[in-house]
Amino acid sequence: MRRAVCPGSFDPVTHGHLDIIGRAATLFDEVVVAVGANESKKGLFSAEERMDMIRVAVRHLPNVTVDSFAGLLVDFCEDHDAQVVVKGLRAVSDFDYELQMAQMNGSLTSVDTVFVPTSPEWSYLASSLVKEVARGGRDVSGLVPPHVVTALAERLGTGPRVR
Ligand code: PNS
Repeated sequence: MRRAVCPGSFDPVTHGHLDIIGRAATLFDEVVVAVGANESKKGLFSAEERMDMIRVAVRHLPNVTVDSFAGLLVDFCEDHDAQVVVKGLRAVSDFDYELQMAQMNGSLTSVDTVFVPTSPEWSYLASSLVKEVARGGRDVSGLVPPHVVTALAERLGTGPRVR
């Protein structure tokens, strides 16, 4: 049984994340989405809110569960008996940092990292940009699931502006 972990901040989850999670779910028997809950990195949404948004978005995937972690990713992997970390790569610019983390994680444990190329349609997508666009009142419904559009509008006090 191969169990993989898909880690991230997911503040909030986007179609890009869901693309990677969905593909990981076809590659591995079980996938645990790991929401980083680092107290020093305050997000727009709490870890619980981020987890709830992901759970709604992956409810059609029976082999995917969602949890959170603080501290080291490799400890989360060992606690969940997961052998593999799956990370999406959008562009070469992602690679340096992701390679460094993968190698550090590999030096600490036997947990290996598998890089999955982000589908081209989502290669420009990042949670930070989605928040910026939503803050500016633009429609983000093509970038995140409907319940995330609603959560963003509520949290930011904005509604999509028609332009
Ligand atoms: O969505 P992000 O911001 O790219 O997610 C980054 C995250 C949470 C996956 C990454 O920062 C992480 O793994 N943090 C846990 C701390 C850790 O284990 N660091 C790796 C040691 S090099």
